[in-house]
Amino acid sequence: MAVLEILKLPDPRLKQVSEPVTEFDDALRAFIDDLEETRQNGPAAVGIAAPQVGVFKRVVIIDCSQTRKPVPNHGHLILVNPEITHWEGFEAGREGCLSVPDYTGNVIRATRIHLEAFDPWGNPLAFDMEGYEARAAQHEIDHLDGILFVDRVVSRRTDLFRRKVYQKGGKSKKG
Ligand code: NI
Repeated sequence: MAVLEILKLPDPRLKQVSEPVTEFDDALRAFIDDLEETRQNGPAAVGIAAPQVGVFKRVVIIDCSQTRKPVPNHGHLILVNPEITHWEGFEAGREGCLSVPDYTGNVIRATRIHLEAFDPWGNPLAFDMEGYEARAAQHEIDHLDGILFVDRVVSRRTDLFRRKVYQKGGKSKKG
């Protein structure tokens, strides 16, 4: 296992579209282990997408079970080739991203989604998600298409917020 380097804005590779996974092999699963270790290494992240570590494959991990407020969620999910097949409703909510460490932003997302994907062994998965988890899934799947949350804010002037304190590895710096 290894902690991988996270690409950060304005790295142009974050705009690259990722390719579908075709081989559900040990190499894929070893990469997913590294991706998970990377997710857990930095500031608490509810999700991470493969292209954030420079691997342009359609793989994301989300885990909305560790948030402070109880929210409906399916726990720790590894989603390979995820596709959202149904959207319902929309609402604004605050988002952050490991690749955009200095800002949070208000982003409009679907409130409820149906998502289909595969697990790391190629078995099909399907979930109905709502609220926070639906938002996390939409954010991570956007990464697979080269889209960051800052690309989705209605106004960069009023909907982006500089983080006052950014903590990583015990150090902090004023924003
Ligand atoms: Ni992100």
